[in-house]
Amino acid sequence: MPADVFTAPLKKPSHVGDDWLEPKQTVYDSEDDAIWDDLFKRQMEMLPGRAATAFMEGTEKLDLGRGGVPEFGKLSEELDKLTGWSVVPVPMLIPDHVFFWHLANRRFPAGNFIRTRETFDYIQEPDVFHDVFGHVPMLTDPVYADYMQEYGKAGWKAMRYNRLKALGSLYWYTVEFGLIEEKPGDIRAYGAGILSGPTEVVYSVEAESPNRIMLNVDRVMRTDYVISDLQPTYFVIPSFEDLYRQTVERDFDKLYKSLGPGFTYANTAVIDVDYVVNRGTLEYTLRGGRGSGAKPV
Ligand SMILES: [Fe+2]
Repeated sequence: MPADVFTAPLKKPSHVGDDWLEPKQTVYDSEDDAIWDDLFKRQMEMLPGRAATAFMEGTEKLDLGRGGVPEFGKLSEELDKLTGWSVVPVPMLIPDHVFFWHLANRRFPAGNFIRTRETFDYIQEPDVFHDVFGHVPMLTDPVYADYMQEYGKAGWKAMRYNRLKALGSLYWYTVEFGLIEEKPGDIRAYGAGILSGPTEVVYSVEAESPNRIMLNVDRVMRTDYVISDLQPTYFVIPSFEDLYRQTVERDFDKLYKSLGPGFTYANTAVIDVDYVVNRGTLEYTLRGGRGSGAKPV
């Protein structure tokens, strides 16, 4: 890593090295495996017709429903044959510069723990279900797999320009909460934040509240986002090729020089340059969102 990159002083657990990788994956017991199976079953009931085709095909190619928490060694072997990626265990959220370095080397860091029954519906810290079920199926798509690697490669540049917030916003609105229009009028979810939980799968593609706007990388990198509630706005791509091109063919030096340190647009905003697919009512957000008990309509 270049010497001029600032790295946040996160406290590293003593048993992991500079790569933050666990020496080996947790051995899960039968209750952990049952939690995985129940989460898997619930999501698979909701996803047909709502999740991107590439995601559904990825779950089959990797046989994620074979029962229990997947073993990373075997999963990586299968993923390697498809796109050259692997899945590696990490103890917790890891520092940005290490995360970018793993992605740039086609390694996806995944949580080395699973949620409990008490936190079955929602957990803030990404666990193995969010990371593996949510993210890994998309890595079987060759173009998406390349996008993720390019994202990792872009990370250190963003750190040098002190524009990590902007790059983080791109991750948020694509990798975590992205939608794709597979055919005219047929909008599906490919973001892991959507696909690993029960509520947003339906809300993101069917509810009237949220705005759905075609993705424009410059615009998205200037847009704020909310981490603990359903999104008021989703950004839609026409294809993974388009997402790859919009990102890889961009002059990020020029972009970072033109960006302010904060966000320009609120996450509810619709602006002149937007190509709007659906303008949302914002009813859920305006009623107060999650804390208010508003219905995700
Ligand atoms: Fe995630």
